Amino acid sequence: MANVLSILRQDHKNMSRLLDALERQIEIFDAGGHPDLDIVLAIAGYVLEYPDRFHHPVEDMVLDVLRQRDAAAAQPAAGLEREHQRIGQLARDFNLAVEAWISEEPARRADFLDTARSFVTAMRDHIAHEDREFFPAAEAALTAEDLDRLTDSVPRLDDPLFGTADRDSYVRLRQNILNWSADEAASS
Ligand SMILES: [Fe+2]
Ligand SMILES: [Fe+2]
Repeated sequence: MANVLSILRQDHKNMSRLLDALERQIEIFDAGGHPDLDIVLAIAGYVLEYPDRFHHPVEDMVLDVLRQRDAAAAQPAAGLEREHQRIGQLARDFNLAVEAWISEEPARRADFLDTARSFVTAMRDHIAHEDREFFPAAEAALTAEDLDRLTDSVPRLDDPLFGTADRDSYVRLRQNILNWSADEAASS
């Protein structure tokens, strides 16, 4: 099994691809087109299902150990737990906005765009903050034993979108992300 920090870094890469997929739908909506409802719903379900249940609690555990090892190095990550709560709330807000949009309340169109964009921005800022400050500090301060212990205590939860499970509700979203990645690779 990969070590806890490489699991978290991989989650960030996956989440960035998910946010790209959401932004593609936001752009379609903003241009007056019809976003893919199935894709938007799958994204909304995933952001409720995975980060709060797996990714954020694991990061909170790593932060606890970092504080014990080097309180000064943990300082830049001081607000992390609060940020996780805020992101959890934004994910729930985003889900409510999707529901309102599905119930076809035209006045909610701007709300949907604002809420979806707020969620994307908050997630991207949060990921950048952790990649820049938190992970390097943890890599520098945690011992090999810390990393082993943390890796052992990572819950055995398969990522429902990027993991090995082939869940029906995520099939089209997974295909959307993979196809886009293939197009990007072909054009670069
Ligand atoms: Fe986080
Ligand atoms: Fe994270």
